[in-house]
Amino acid sequence: MGGVMEAIRRRFSLVFFSFAAAFFLLAVFLKFLRSMPWWCSCAVCEAYVTKSWTSHFDNLCDWYAHLLRHSPTGTIHIHVLGNTVTANPDNVEHILRARFDNYPKGKPFSAILRDLLGRGIFNVDGQAWLFQRKMAVAELGSSAVRFFASCIVAAEVRDRLLPLLDSAAADGRVLDLQDVFRRFTFDSICKISFGLDPGCLELSLPLSEFAAAFDAASRLSAARAAVTMPIVWKVKRLLNWGPERELREAIRMVNLLAEELIRRRRKLGFSSNHDLLSRFMACVGDEDDNYLRDIVISFLLAGRDTVSSALTSFFLLLSSHPEVLSAIRDEIDRVVGGRVVASYDRLRDLHYVHAALYEAMRLYPPVQFDSKFCVVDDVLPDGTFVGRGTRVTYHAYAMGRMEELWGSDCHEFRPQRWLRDGAFVPESPFKYPVFQGGLRVCLGKEMALMEMKMVIVAMVRKFDVELAANSGSRPPKFVPGLTASLEGGLAVRVRMLGGEQRSVL
Ligand code: HEM
Repeated sequence: MGGVMEAIRRRFSLVFFSFAAAFFLLAVFLKFLRSMPWWCSCAVCEAYVTKSWTSHFDNLCDWYAHLLRHSPTGTIHIHVLGNTVTANPDNVEHILRARFDNYPKGKPFSAILRDLLGRGIFNVDGQAWLFQRKMAVAELGSSAVRFFASCIVAAEVRDRLLPLLDSAAADGRVLDLQDVFRRFTFDSICKISFGLDPGCLELSLPLSEFAAAFDAASRLSAARAAVTMPIVWKVKRLLNWGPERELREAIRMVNLLAEELIRRRRKLGFSSNHDLLSRFMACVGDEDDNYLRDIVISFLLAGRDTVSSALTSFFLLLSSHPEVLSAIRDEIDRVVGGRVVASYDRLRDLHYVHAALYEAMRLYPPVQFDSKFCVVDDVLPDGTFVGRGTRVTYHAYAMGRMEELWGSDCHEFRPQRWLRDGAFVPESPFKYPVFQGGLRVCLGKEMALMEMKMVIVAMVRKFDVELAANSGSRPPKFVPGLTASLEGGLAVRVRMLGGEQRSVL
């Protein structure tokens, strides 16, 4: 009997101690979890994790803008993402210029975008970045290349965009303007950067499927950066599961398109050509197809989505601002004369159009925010401490909505704020970082402005663009992605202006 009792006692002790040890380990584990950056119970992080912000705001960027407006320093912390977000121009200048070396893109971010962007210019630092930047400066910086690009864009407007809009006007059908602009900018960037017309590619599927894959890849890659525990997407990627499976498939399609562009360029020859892809092929040797693929993808992303995003929001704003439309038409009549497709030289004199474009991108920047990673501990000019490894984000979308920066009418679309005595006056790129600023400032800015102005001149000259029923009835909702795009596109009807016969040349 005594032996049985002893055995029960021993077993009981074992169970008791096992439970105690398990509880202890669990407590240690929980403490460890809580000490991690992605565990925080502050109001902002709680709202982020539970998504409770969605009951007050349509877009994450609107919620961030609200928080930043109410922060005394113009800087906030999303602890669960290890992200310091700022709308303070002094901080932006510090990150992008003064302490550029301390704020590279960094490894965590390049890991997030590596599957899509590889070693392309947007996703590398140091020598790899410098090399591509020098090559791209030689291509995009020269005025001869810009003039050549303007001829390509003019031909695209004349031969593709206007005929498409003519036919839509004739049969009164509804168009998704965002989609029209994406096709237009895709064609233009392929011709400018790769010397190829996508219409001539031998693709296994319609181009629209590749475009959809491109959009999905951008959306799903951006979604990785929004999760609080990166290990989650890494495990899903390993298991090829859920969104990661979708991303892999989208990237496979994007790769097919890039491979076809490279194959075609090689077939047509690259040694005597001056487009960007030919230059890279001649310089890095045309053997490294993976590297060439990364370059192709980066330039497609840079040249397609940003410009189409800016044009879409421009026409969205114009539809509710007839006074701006009529000022634009007056200026175009004065400067361009009777032509529908403006010449390169005339475009530079369109100060009001330039101001209206800047104003539209202030409110709806194509790249809404951009992140860097801090290398060594630092203090931002507003006194914010930034620890090593912290993600630091400047938020162009929020900056366009700061009363402190733009005055009490900051929510209004008012191109005049950019004009002095009728001439366009730029702002500091650190107050208006729509094209970024500092050492990695956008290289396609002039080209993008030329392209957008040419489209605007041709469209407002020939057509009235009206939003289709309901499409402008609520504030824009964006699809999360690397560049801003409108959920559901922008449904419009175009109407040919009162029987005017203008010269298209
Ligand atoms: C409205 C149009 C555009 C906007 C708003 C815009 C904006 C930007 C922004 C914010 C960046 C910094 C991105 C980052 O570092 O993560 C950037 C970089 C860049 N952009 Fe643009 N961009 C536009 C059009 C273009 C076009 C048409 C091209 C040329 C094909 C281009 C080429 C580049 C390149 C090569 C970089 C990389 C610069 C570097 O890292 O050194 N961009 N752009």
